[in-house]
Amino acid sequence: MVVAWFLVLFSVQSVISDEDVRDFNASRLFRLFKDLAQYRPNDVNDHDVTFYLFTRQESNVPMPLQGNTSIDLSKNTKLIIHGWIDNHNRSWYHHLTDAYLTHGDYNVIHVDWGRVSKSFYASSAANTQIVGRYVATFLLNHQFPPKNVHLIGHSLGAHIAGYAADIVEKNLTTKIRRISALDPAGPGFSSVVLGLEKPLVRENAEVVDVYHTDGGFLGLFIPLGSFDVYINGGVRIQPDCRSALGNFTAGLLFEELYCSHTRSYVYFTEIVNSTKFTCAKCGSLFQQMLDSCNLNKKYVFGAEDIDETYTGVCFVDTSK
Ligand SMILES: *[C@@H]1O[C@H](CO)[C@@H](O)[C@H](O)[C@H]1NC(C)=O
Ligand SMILES: *[C@@H]1O[C@H](CO)[C@@H](O)[C@H](O)[C@H]1NC(C)=O
Ligand SMILES: *[C@@H]1O[C@H](CO)[C@@H](O)[C@H](O)[C@H]1NC(C)=O
Ligand SMILES: *[C@@H]1O[C@H](CO)[C@@H](O)[C@H](O)[C@H]1NC(C)=O
Ligand SMILES: *[C@@H]1O[C@H](CO)[C@@H](O)[C@H](O)[C@H]1NC(C)=O
Ligand SMILES: *[C@@H]1O[C@H](CO)[C@@H](O)[C@H](O)[C@H]1NC(C)=O
Repeated sequence: MVVAWFLVLFSVQSVISDEDVRDFNASRLFRLFKDLAQYRPNDVNDHDVTFYLFTRQESNVPMPLQGNTSIDLSKNTKLIIHGWIDNHNRSWYHHLTDAYLTHGDYNVIHVDWGRVSKSFYASSAANTQIVGRYVATFLLNHQFPPKNVHLIGHSLGAHIAGYAADIVEKNLTTKIRRISALDPAGPGFSSVVLGLEKPLVRENAEVVDVYHTDGGFLGLFIPLGSFDVYINGGVRIQPDCRSALGNFTAGLLFEELYCSHTRSYVYFTEIVNSTKFTCAKCGSLFQQMLDSCNLNKKYVFGAEDIDETYTGVCFVDTSK
């Protein structure tokens, strides 16, 4: 089972970017395989976790871990945290940032842990705890008021957000306002599969909203937030990801493998960019399986609407 997971993950790794997968060639794949064969637990240094500020006035301003900047701490601050084999210089970071800054006067901070994320999956997963400590240190050093902080993490980044929030709460005895978890990583964080790491939990922030798009495969299927949104059932294959099926080029197949996992940030960006989602509310996943949800109870929400009044699990069908 474990071996099977890593084989799958090894093939998935070629998709470091949802844009350029089609252009992958053998030498590039080989370089990546070399990186991904490296098991590097605890290999995280001060310069490995970096922060870049975007506001309506400024863009891509590097922020030090220590020390101060002219950042306006009274603004709602969004930190975007990527997952495995990813980095901050990706189009999805920019799309999400553009969507936020179009709709509100936020601080948007891109968190990068690219070098650390590019290693054997199990070591990247274990290192999320250390990266989380850096994110917490950054928030504490700059004295962000926790009530203004919103962490947005994709895949392993969702667990980093959980660790960071936990440390901030221990330090200040105040919870971070919100964590949005975009298809939080499954392998290694699910007791069913490996049970290695402590996953994000709803207690990590006042509001923890979770978007499931590849549950049971690269993401977690179980509800883990204060509000869990299951998009198109919460599992692969997501509707936009079907085009590659039957095109047996390596790049397209790899893209397919990773695609459903990435839909979480695509859909999240849509709701930030003012598309309202309508979801059918359910008491629990179990009720949904038994088909006994009250489907008349619906939530209609945009990305900034989510607060304590949104609870339980909710099902969105994007085709409707
Ligand atoms: C493979 O792709 C990389 C970058 O995409 C390029 O620099 C390199 O020359 C390519 N190698 C071959 C053998 O085509
Ligand atoms: C931080 O900012 C304050 C006030 O703007 C200034 O007095 C202080 O010297 C700054 N510290 C550093 C390390 O830049
Ligand atoms: C970010 O990506 C663009 C191309 O997408 C590239 O031109 C640029 O050099 C990259 N910047 C960094 C810091 O990697
Ligand atoms: C947000 O929506 C506007 C208008 O529908 C569109 O032009 C823009 O491309 C969208 N931006 C993103 C990042 O999706
Ligand atoms: C809280 O964080 C500050 C700044 O990083 C640090 O100096 C202090 O030791 C921390 N306190 C606790 C109790 O962890
Ligand atoms: C896959 O192949 C079909 C036809 O065989 C084509 O219509 C479709 O565009 C291809 N999908 C992609 C993502 O290239």
